[in-house]
Amino acid sequence: MADILQRRPRFMLVSDLDWTMVDHNDATHEKLRRFNRLWLTEFAPDSLLVFSSGRSPELFHELASEVPLLKPDILVCSVGTEILINGQADAEWEAHLNEGWDRAAAEGIAAKLPELEMQRESEQRPHKISYKLRVADPDRVLGALRSDLAAAGLDTNVIFSGGEDLDILPSRASKGKALSFLLKQFESGPGLPEAGVMVCGDSGNDIELFVVPGVHGCMVANAHKELRDWCEANMHDRIFAATQDGPGGIYEALHHFSFPNPAKADTVHRRQAVCAQQAWAEEWCNGSVPQDDAACEAHMLEGFEEDFEYVHSSGQLMTRRDLTDWFASEGYACCAGGSKAAAAAGGDRGAAPVPAAPGTAGVSPGAGTGSGSEASGSGRLCMWVDRYSERQLAQGVWLARWMELYQPFVAGKHTAGERTAKWASAVLRQHEGDAYRFAYLHESPVPREQARA
Ligand code: GLC
Ligand code: MG
Repeated sequence: MADILQRRPRFMLVSDLDWTMVDHNDATHEKLRRFNRLWLTEFAPDSLLVFSSGRSPELFHELASEVPLLKPDILVCSVGTEILINGQADAEWEAHLNEGWDRAAAEGIAAKLPELEMQRESEQRPHKISYKLRVADPDRVLGALRSDLAAAGLDTNVIFSGGEDLDILPSRASKGKALSFLLKQFESGPGLPEAGVMVCGDSGNDIELFVVPGVHGCMVANAHKELRDWCEANMHDRIFAATQDGPGGIYEALHHFSFPNPAKADTVHRRQAVCAQQAWAEEWCNGSVPQDDAACEAHMLEGFEEDFEYVHSSGQLMTRRDLTDWFASEGYACCAGGSKAAAAAGGDRGAAPVPAAPGTAGVSPGAGTGSGSEASGSGRLCMWVDRYSERQLAQGVWLARWMELYQPFVAGKHTAGERTAKWASAVLRQHEGDAYRFAYLHESPVPREQARA
């Protein structure tokens, strides 16, 4: 049994992806990355993140390389029909769904309805047959399909989502039934999540998540009619109708139900120190930190020990002084076209290597969006932190490790630039109060194909 199922989590978040965790209208994914920081600092130490999507594993990976998703602890794909932990499908769940499921017979019946158009091949799964249904009166076709399937003695679950997607699943399957299966394993093992479970969704295939006994629910503001109607008819005080779309709504709901728990662990302070450094590096990269040497120097003094050493992934070794000098000579915007060096070089630094800076090193100007000048203006290099872990070395001294991911997003464009990632290891030393400073930082590149959730 997977490790994850053997520890009792404090809290479990189960979220749909498209238009729930991911707001496809938010070009730079600000709200998603704000959720990521909250999750990484206040939840990841003791809680489980579960993504539950209608997408096949193939389309999930496509999404995960396009948008800044965290790596989930558990991935539920294909409308609850595939449960994956560390990329490994749960064989017990598969066997459970096989019972009484006659895929070919169900497909044969659906084929008789001309309104149903087969979806792409990747979305046809062992326990999921998917169609597009684009008609003015979907209820008529849904009714006919359900009664034909029943008349043939086939026990199926027909789910309509987003006003056009129709999935035929075994009656034993849905996002909700997959969640119940997982919760049963916790119940009979280490115990149910202590502080509870919250499900989040926007469309028809999410309804069954809200039906799981005892769960809290978050309906995002941009929810479709199917879920909206259901919530209206079944409202109770554990369901929260968010006022914000997608990940903004999830963030809102976590606070509404008071699920964050920062008081608990002092790991929160170390995680915050890492995230704060990243946030500064991102601002620096995009030319939005205060544009003067004194502010930069103050930032360096606050975040880094006097004897700080930094080994960049190229092998270059730097001290705090080297780094401060480097910031001063290079200016405050490596990617947004605002740096002193860029001005001196006529505004386009092309492929000139960016020497080294925590959280920025190795990212060449305008990475992935073509030339440096193309990245300036509306382009923004986004960074996020994932897979943080740590161990204590001595009193007040910790070794931390995390993945740093970088991707340029261009406002108004749905296609993002190429992603890069690095592993970072750092020694963090405690100061007055709960402040931590970097004593040492070492970075090395992550192979391209591993730079995603
Ligand atoms: C996702 C899947 C699709 C499914 C839909 C609704 O978009 O890719 O196959 O029909 O979710 O569940
Ligand atoms: Mg959705």
